[in-house]
Amino acid sequence: MRPFFVSFAACMAGRKIIITIDGWSSCGKSTLAKQLARELGYVYVDSGAMYRAITLYFIRNNVDLDKKKEVEEALRNINLEFVFNPQTQRSEMFLNGENVEYVIRDLLIAEKVSDVAAIREVREFAVAQQQKMGAKKGIVMDGRDIGTVVFPDAELKIFMTADNAVRVERRFRELFAKNPNITIEEVKNNLEMRDYIDSHREVSPLRKAADALELDNTRLSEEQQFHKALEWALERKKGKK
Ligand code: DC
Repeated sequence: MRPFFVSFAACMAGRKIIITIDGWSSCGKSTLAKQLARELGYVYVDSGAMYRAITLYFIRNNVDLDKKKEVEEALRNINLEFVFNPQTQRSEMFLNGENVEYVIRDLLIAEKVSDVAAIREVREFAVAQQQKMGAKKGIVMDGRDIGTVVFPDAELKIFMTADNAVRVERRFRELFAKNPNITIEEVKNNLEMRDYIDSHREVSPLRKAADALELDNTRLSEEQQFHKALEWALERKKGKK
């Protein structure tokens, strides 16, 4: 690969844009989103963390997903915030004042989150907050419906994919580090189930926006995919859409 160097000035030049990154579970969306945000001095928002935190609240409070009134009442009691942690140098998810950044990554949450995220009221609640966060631009947000629903006019939309086996392997390594009892079968089943529900739900299903650029990282290193995406971002910042 040719050497790649982008100066600080190049990253700061041009207009402020919105970058959306959508795609299947465990494609490396958040890794790329964080790298882009750091390089461009933008805010990074992990929209999946919001759905995970809502799921945690629903589990803890035995909210019946089939009862609209119960769901609406629960949402009224949920306050979500991203708080920057100087120690980890990243924004962490807070649910009603409690740092839930680590618990929401559990497989227990992953098993329920797609059902929660398919509920219309939940999506309206999360999307309204996400749109506010992007009002001033200068933001990179990853998720499933960011380029199609949350920011349909975003200047740069990326849709990430990777082969299933590669995604399962990546997620397994991540979860195994925290829980050595986890099996590759469990991880594979969970990924397949989430992808199915996320892409078949009635409200805002996972889709590639017509104007999104596809990034298949099956055979790309983290560095290679970052350089490709950064090139796209710098082009769009100059106003080439
Ligand atoms: O990106 P993630 O794996 O943390 O997302 C968790 C779940 O949340 C995912 O299975 C689908 C849902 N989600 C969604 O429906 N819309 C988003 N914008 C982000 C996540």
